[in-house]
Formats: sequence, structure tokens, C-alpha cells
Amino acid sequence: MSEAATPPGSVPGTVFPPGFDPTAESVEKTLCFRGFWAWFVLILLIALGISLFMWLLRKCIQGPAYRKANRIDGKVVIVTGCNTGIGKETVLELAKRGARVYMACRDPGRCEAARLDIMDRSRNQQLFNRTLDLGSLQSVRSFVERFKAEESRLDILINNAGIMACPRTLTADGYEQQFGVNHLGHFLLTNLLLDRLKHSSPSRIVVVSSAAHLFGRINREDLMSEKNYGKFFGAYSQSKLANILFTRKLSTILKDTGVTVNCCHPGVVRTELNRHFAGPGWMKSVLQTGSLYFFKTPKAGAQTSLRLALDPQLEHSTGGYYSDCMRFPLVPWARNMQNADWLWRESEKLVGLPPLEPPPAGQNPTQNGNGTQNGAASGNGNGNGSANPVSREMQSVETVVVNRS
Ligand SMILES: NC(=O)c1ccc[n+]([C@@H]2O[C@H](COP(=O)([O-])OP(=O)(O)OC[C@H]3O[C@@H](n4cnc5c(N)ncnc54)[C@H](OP(=O)(O)O)[C@@H]3O)[C@@H](O)[C@H]2O)c1
Repeated sequence: MSEAATPPGSVPGTVFPPGFDPTAESVEKTLCFRGFWAWFVLILLIALGISLFMWLLRKCIQGPAYRKANRIDGKVVIVTGCNTGIGKETVLELAKRGARVYMACRDPGRCEAARLDIMDRSRNQQLFNRTLDLGSLQSVRSFVERFKAEESRLDILINNAGIMACPRTLTADGYEQQFGVNHLGHFLLTNLLLDRLKHSSPSRIVVVSSAAHLFGRINREDLMSEKNYGKFFGAYSQSKLANILFTRKLSTILKDTGVTVNCCHPGVVRTELNRHFAGPGWMKSVLQTGSLYFFKTPKAGAQTSLRLALDPQLEHSTGGYYSDCMRFPLVPWARNMQNADWLWRESEKLVGLPPLEPPPAGQNPTQNGNGTQNGAASGNGNGNGSANPVSREMQSVETVVVNRS
């Protein structure tokens, strides 16, 4: 029996056991080696593909940023609810651009901590800690009184503060908390500041609403959700729809004044807004972990507010709803002007402002939409009511603004 031929690569003279085919072994080894690298490269490519996809998805989730470098040195700005979350990031960016910012927060201690942090990061000393509890009409009035004593102008007002899906509680004036804070507090604040905004025109109002308005309805029969309280799909979404109807109505009132008003949805943002979430522990953990990747950062959440406050291109744009820095059309119930008119009149009564427009024919000016007397049924604690009918001559916007200052 002749000895097997020496396969290429093996030492000449090597004796192989019978049945052993050194050539096949070598080929197998080579294939095995190549197979390893093929798998390695394939897995590497898949990992790279997944990483790229995750990176792109994350970029999409974060949305576009406001990138214009325009400065607003010396412009006076009020931002509500800015000790944390979207509001804090908004103030940081405005401060970096040279604004004089009044930080309107309900907790002076948390506000001071945020103010010092922002001052440090922006190198802007023009930041002021001011107390404003939107759940108290008296607090709103006191804030405005102090602000007006300090500043003769107001260039930008950002109604950012908000509360979501809390257990049913009442504001100091007896109104449902989410409607009271998110809508009524800001309604009174804005109205009391209109004269300053007009005086400083061109000026801007930014209202931070939410896509939750899509689930909202203005419940004329139960505005305070007394009969039926749905934390999110009832009261919160109603209050965010109210933000939009308020924006729409105010934009018509402010036509040709040089004051614009726009509202926005900031996106789904990782903030403290879900602090009232009362689900099981494991769900909270899943939400917390998932939000790290799937939610916007507060900085990304602030971009639409920033564009509305800063972009010179939007100087004349008003009455719009924006998300991801772009204008979006509204659903029919968010642009229903009859609802907006009704809500405006009702809100005036609830916060105790004189009516801007005459009530519709057939409605007693001292009655609200539910047919109850103003102030009493509404739980209006300031006793101011709205039972002060004004003559038609006094109903120009200008006159009412003067009355309100
Ligand atoms: N995060 C989101 O995914 C999301 C989505 C859509 C819309 N939004 C809207 O974005 C806005 C900012 O929310 P965020 O996400 O930044 O939430 P956040 O982190 O909870 O900040 C809310 C801010 O509002 C303040 N606030 C609450 N009640 C107040 C009151 N009675 N008076 C004055 N300030 C009050 C809070 O002050 P304290 O810290 O003292 O409570 C806090 O500074 C809200 O209007 C919210 O509805 C947020």
C-alpha cells in the first residue's frame, strides 16, 4: 500500500493514520476558519445596522431643534413653571441668548435652585425668581402686580406650567385643579399682562398645550368634572383643548396689535409631568426605563416653544398650533370658534374679569353657560364675579385692556 501523498502545507515525511485524509482535514479547517469570520462579519453588520436604526429612531424621536442663532439681549420674558422639565430648558436657552427672564414658579425653593443652575450654565445674571401659583387667582394677581411695578415692558410670555392626571382636587378658588391651573390661571395671567405685551409689540405669547387635546371635549355641562372625573381623558385633555381654544380666540382679539399668540405640543417628554402616575411598581419601572430611550429629553421638548418665542420668521404668525417646530392643522373641535367664544366668556366669569364682548342675544349677562349665577356656583372666591355689564362703547379690546391693567 502506497503511503498517502504529502498534502500541501504538511511536513514532508509525516505518517498519517489509516483512513485519515489530511487534505480533507485541511480544507475543513480552512472552511471552519472562513465560516467563523463570515459569522463574525455578519453579526457585526447586523449589530451596526441595529445601532444605526436605533440612532436614527432616537434622532427622529428627539425631533428638530431650533438652530437659528438670533439673540434677544435685554428682552423681557416670563416663563411659568420653569423650575424643572421643559420650562427650565426653555429658560436656559433664552438666558444664553441674553434675555431678562422672570421665572414664575409656585415653589420658591425649587425655583431658586433652578435659577442658580441656569445662571451658572448661561452666564446670565438677569434671571429673577418670582412666586406664582396658578392654582390661586390671588397669587396670579399678586405676581402681575409685582411684575408691573418692576418692568414696564414684556416681550415674550410663555405659558408653560402644567399639571397632569392628578387625583381630583380643587384650586384655592374651588375649581378643578387641571382646568384651574392649566387653563384658568394662565387665562387670567395673560389677560392681566396684555397691556404690557401691546406696549412692547412686536411681542409674543406662547401657550404650551398638548396632543392630548385630541381626546378632549369642552364639557359645558360639567366644566369642573364634578359628575365624571377622568384624570387624563377627561380633565387633562379638556384643559389642553382649552389652551388651544384660548389661543385661537386670543389671536382674533389681538389682530393688528403686533402681539402674536401660538400654541404647541412639545412631544412626549421625559419630565416630572407623570408624577401623579399611580400604576403598579413594575409599570412605573418599565415606563421609567422605556422613557430613557423612547421619550424626548426636556431640551428637545423645549425646541418648539423656543422656535415660537424666537424665530424672526414667525413675527407675524399667529393663532397656530405647532409640534416638532412645524405648524400643524387643527382638528375641527380645536378650531370651533363657537366653543372658543363660549369658553372665553365662561373663563372671564370664573376668574372675575369684565366681559370683553357682549353676551350672545338672549343670554342674561349675569348668567354663565349653565344658567347659574356668576361667582356663586362657580366657587369664585374673590367675590369679583363678572356681573359688571359694560356698555357697548366700552367693549373695544383697548378699553378692556386698560380696565384690566
Ligand atoms: N412632558 C410631556 O410629555 C408633555 C407632553 C405634552 C404637553 N406637555 C406640557 O408641557 C408643559 C410643561 O410640562 P413638563 O413636561 O415640563 O412637566 P413638569 O416637569 O412636571 O413641569 C411642570 C411645571 O409646572 C409647574 N406647576 C405645576 N402646577 C403649578 C401651579 N399651580 N402653579 C405654578 N406652576 C405650576 C411645576 O412646578 P412644581 O415643580 O412646583 O410642581 C413645574 O415647574 C405642561 O403644560 C404640560 O402639560 C408636556
